[in-house]
Amino acid sequence: MSHEIPADSLRASDAYRLMISLVAPRPIAWVSTLDRAGRGNIAPYSYFQGVCSHPPTIVLGVGGRPDGGEKDTLANILERREFVINHVSEPFAEAMNASSAPYAPGVSEWEALGIESEPSTVVAPPRVAGVRAALECRLQHAIPVGEHRSGGPSSTIVIARVVHFHVADGLIERDEQGRLKAIDPARLAAVGRLGGIAYTTTAGQFEIPRPPKPAEPSSA
Ligand SMILES: Cc1cc2nc3c(=O)[nH]c(=O)nc-3n(C[C@H](O)[C@H](O)[C@H](O)COP(=O)(O)O)c2cc1C
Repeated sequence: MSHEIPADSLRASDAYRLMISLVAPRPIAWVSTLDRAGRGNIAPYSYFQGVCSHPPTIVLGVGGRPDGGEKDTLANILERREFVINHVSEPFAEAMNASSAPYAPGVSEWEALGIESEPSTVVAPPRVAGVRAALECRLQHAIPVGEHRSGGPSSTIVIARVVHFHVADGLIERDEQGRLKAIDPARLAAVGRLGGIAYTTTAGQFEIPRPPKPAEPSSA
C-alpha cells in the first residue's frame, strides 16, 4: 500500500516538504553574487544540480520571497549575469546555514557573519576563502516556473555555464595519461541536504562498478 497524492491537491508547504524529503540528498550551492551597487550577497540553494559537462552547466531553483518578490540572489544574477557557487564542506556548514536568514537587500551576509572572501578569477563576485572548490558561473537562461498569488512566478530556474573552476590543493590527481581522476569524495567531504534540517556528507560511501555492455541477442 502506498499513499496516492495528486500533486495538484497539495498545499505549497506540503509540496515543499515532499520535494525536499524525496529528492535527496541534494548538493548545496552557496551562491555569491553582487548587487547593482557592487555590494556582496551570499545564500545557500539546494535546488541545485550539474546537468551537463561539456560545456559545464548547472541549474538552480530560486523560489520567490513569501510576498512574491525576488530573492536577492536572483535579482543580482539577473542584474549582473555572474555568480560563484562555493562548495560546502562540514567546516562551512554553520556559516552556510546562517547565511540563509532573510537579511534585507543591501545587507551583506559576508559582513554580518564574518565570512572571509577572496577574489574570483573571471567573474566579479568574490568566492569564500578556504572552501574546497568554487565554480565561477555566467547566466545562460532564467526560466520562470509556476505562479505566485501576487501574479509573478513562484520560482525561477537559473541555467548557467561554469566558466572557471577552483579546486583546493591536494584534491586534484591525474593518471599516467594526464587525465583527471575522480576526486576522492571522502577528502572533498561535501555536505548534502536531506529533508527538514537534516544534512549528510560524502565522507561515507560505497562503490558500484559500471555494468558490462549487455550481450547482443543471438540471431538464431
Ligand atoms: C541548505 C539550504 C538550502 C536552501 N535551498 C534553497 C533553494 O534551493 N531555493 C530557494 O529558493 N531557497 C533555498 N534556501 C533558502 C534561502 O537560502 C533563503 O531564502 C535566503 O534568505 C535567500 O537569500 P537571498 O535573498 O540573499 O538570496 C535554502 C536554505 C538552506 C539553509
